[in-house]
Amino acid sequence: MSSPLLSVSGLTKRYRRGGKTIAAVDNVSFHIEPGETLALAGPSGSGKSTIARLVLRLVQPDAGDIQFKGEDFLALGGATLRARRARLQMVFQDPLAAFNPRATVARVLDDPLRIHGIASRSERPRRIAALLERVGLSPDLAPRAIHEISGGQRQRVAIARAIATKPSLIVLDEAVSALDVSVRGQILRLLLDLQREERIAYLFISHDLGVVRAIAHRLVILDAGTIAESGDARTVIDAPQSAIGKALVVAAPKLDRTGP
Ligand SMILES: Nc1ncnc2c1ncn2[C@@H]1O[C@H](COP(=O)(O)OP(=O)(O)OP(=O)(O)O)[C@@H](O)[C@H]1O
Ligand SMILES: [Mg+2]
Repeated sequence: MSSPLLSVSGLTKRYRRGGKTIAAVDNVSFHIEPGETLALAGPSGSGKSTIARLVLRLVQPDAGDIQFKGEDFLALGGATLRARRARLQMVFQDPLAAFNPRATVARVLDDPLRIHGIASRSERPRRIAALLERVGLSPDLAPRAIHEISGGQRQRVAIARAIATKPSLIVLDEAVSALDVSVRGQILRLLLDLQREERIAYLFISHDLGVVRAIAHRLVILDAGTIAESGDARTVIDAPQSAIGKALVVAAPKLDRTGP
């Protein structure tokens, strides 16, 4: 058996609110294999984004263990952590909030290439053009400002930035939720193509079970910070066993069973 790319066990994060402590994430364990998509679904406040932030080490857990590529990810620091971070990228719902909206597309893509020393100054314009083409955008977009391009184009730029460092895992937190249905389908197809060609794994967070059914191999359903059920994505969605799973399926808009 191959070893998992990411392995999370006993992950716990508590927050104090109004004088009492709530466990946003409570003893959660899961793993992701190379090239696999694991979806996290669950109602608002169930802990999905907190798990994303813990996995990205944007917040520290109160308990638990995260192994990334067989290393104790929580113990890494300094240059080693920076180097590993290149292999673990993220795409969020709103690229306008994630990037400086006045920055150019070229600048947004230049940063990771420069910071991680991936290409020399003279090589970078060519690399940027290639990244844009890789995500289905014209290199002519390079001088445009982030706020001037469409939401779908912006999310493609966010994906181009994420793949610039050749990551083995991308955390996507509601990355297609703000897009209209046809653009969403195009972005999902792009993600599937990239995964097939580059063997990237995704931790794919979405409240939309239709989207999850189209893209995920396995699914973890969260409820108040704990795992309510998990398994093969289509099996869980087609026959949920937990109360929260059943409620999410009932609430889902008509599920498309054909995939993107
Ligand atoms: N920085 C914080 N301080 C205090 N409480 C927090 C903080 N971040 C998250 N929480 C709480 O932790 C719980 C989980 O929040 P989280 O954002 O992970 O949920 P979510 O599943 O991503 O929800 P949504 O679907 O609305 O994005 C919520 O009760 C939230 O209020
Ligand atoms: Mg969230």
